[in-house]
Order: sequence, then C-alpha cells, then structure tokens
Amino acid sequence: MNLSDKHDAEHQSAPLKRVTTRRLQDMKKKQKKISCLTAYDALIARIIDEAGIDLILVGDSLGNVVQGHETTIPVTLEDIIYHTKAVVKGVQRALVVADMPFMSYQISPEEAFRNAGRLMKEAGASAVKIEGGHRVAKAVRKMTEAGIPVMAHLGLTPQSINQFGSYRPRGESEQEAEEIMKDALELEQAGAFAIVLEKIPMQLAQKITSSLMVPTIGIGAGPHCDGQILVYSDMVGLTIDFSPRFVRRYDNLQERISHSVDSYIQDIRNCNFPSIDESY
Ligand code: KIV
Repeated sequence: MNLSDKHDAEHQSAPLKRVTTRRLQDMKKKQKKISCLTAYDALIARIIDEAGIDLILVGDSLGNVVQGHETTIPVTLEDIIYHTKAVVKGVQRALVVADMPFMSYQISPEEAFRNAGRLMKEAGASAVKIEGGHRVAKAVRKMTEAGIPVMAHLGLTPQSINQFGSYRPRGESEQEAEEIMKDALELEQAGAFAIVLEKIPMQLAQKITSSLMVPTIGIGAGPHCDGQILVYSDMVGLTIDFSPRFVRRYDNLQERISHSVDSYIQDIRNCNFPSIDESY
C-alpha cells in the first residue's frame, strides 16, 4: 500500500465529523470559505451532504420552491418541521439549520424560544435561522442563552417583502447601510453564531465581515463574505424562470429532466418500454 492509498483508506474509515457552529467560526478564523445550500427533502439533502457541503438550510424558500407560493409568507412552522425531519434523515455531516417562518418568532421572545425548541426537539435541527435586526435581538438572546444556536439574516429579508415593496438590493443608501451594520453588531452581541447577508452591496458586506468575529454567509452580497449560500434548485437550474444576477447555474436540470421525461413518454408510446429484460 503506498502513502496515498493509506491516506484514502484512513479517510474512508474515519467517522464523518459533524459540522458544528464552533467549526464554522474556526473556518472564519482560518480564512476557509463556508459552503451552504438549501434542501427540503432527504433525497437532495443526502446528495449535497455527501458532496461535502458545510451547512444545509431548510429555508422557508420552500414556500416558493416546493409549495409554489409567490412569497415565503404562507409557510408554517409545521411545514418547516416536516421538511426539516426529512432533511435530517439524509444528512450525516453538514450542520442542519431550520428557518423560522413568518410569525413564528415576531410575537415575543418567549414564543420564538418555544418554536425554536420544537424545530430542535421534534424536527432534529441543530440550529435555527431568523430574519431581522434590532427588532429580533431580544429573541436571539433568549434562544442563544438557552442553548439554541441562531443564525441571523439581514439585508433583503424576504419575509418583509410587503414592507419593502420590492426585491431591490438593500443597504445602498448611507442610512440603510448604517442600519444594517448596526444590526449586524447587535445580533453578534445577542449571540448569533453566523449572519446571512442577502442582496447588499459587496463593499458593505466586506465591512460587516471584517467587523464581526462570527462568519457572514452571503447571497447576492459579493465575494468577501466568509461563506456563500444559494437555493439548491436555482443552482442546479431547476427554477429557470428565476434568474437574479447572484445565482450561478451549474447545470440545467429543468432541460435534462424534461428531455428524460420526453424520452420516457416516447418509449411507452412506441412500445419500447418496458423491454423483456425489464419484465418478470
Ligand atoms: O429561505 C431561504 O432559502 C433563505 C436563504 C436563501 C438564505 O433564507
């Protein structure tokens, strides 16, 4: 056995080390970029976990991707529990974070705490995510003090779409940029283990990233964040009618699935499927 075979054998037999919030913070210190994707079911979660992703978010984007809603507002806590249970079954290594849906954390820190507890106890999430700045800081503190790791989310927070009125980038004016910066510092103080920065200018994301000890995870926030996240179905080209500038498409699965289904239909119609070999 040569050295590289030995390394491979050891690598294969070594138990997979679960990614923890501490590990993500170490990665920031060591300037190792953090890779994140969303997933909503065990099948996709298993594939992206085995590929080596660091963090899987059961995002309330499932409202758009899975349920076909226009916004994330209709997503319920029960929906997130259901999908998180499925994702957790498919994951061995990545940190699984469950998104707290609209109205599951805004009423009071106590209500946020109770609901986050359900996401951990019933669904098996290792952490939760919550949208907003100053107005959710008390809830973040309450949860983190009780041992629930919280990832915060600033910038374009989709649950506030009716207040924002559009999906334009946030933080472009000096006043908005200052607010986001202040919120980021307050959320770190409140105990957030990481902060998602969505659709803000890259210079602002860079400034926030260098001001915080905890990692920033960007989506449409430029290359200076400590990590990046995309919705998996955008990244693999399943949702091709949604094409903001920040999505990089690594495949065109919509076209490929459509081709496969077309071939299947033709095979059935032409009596080419099933063959004798595919029969009993
Ligand atoms: O719901 C979601 O998928 C998200 C990510 C895009 C950050 O919040």
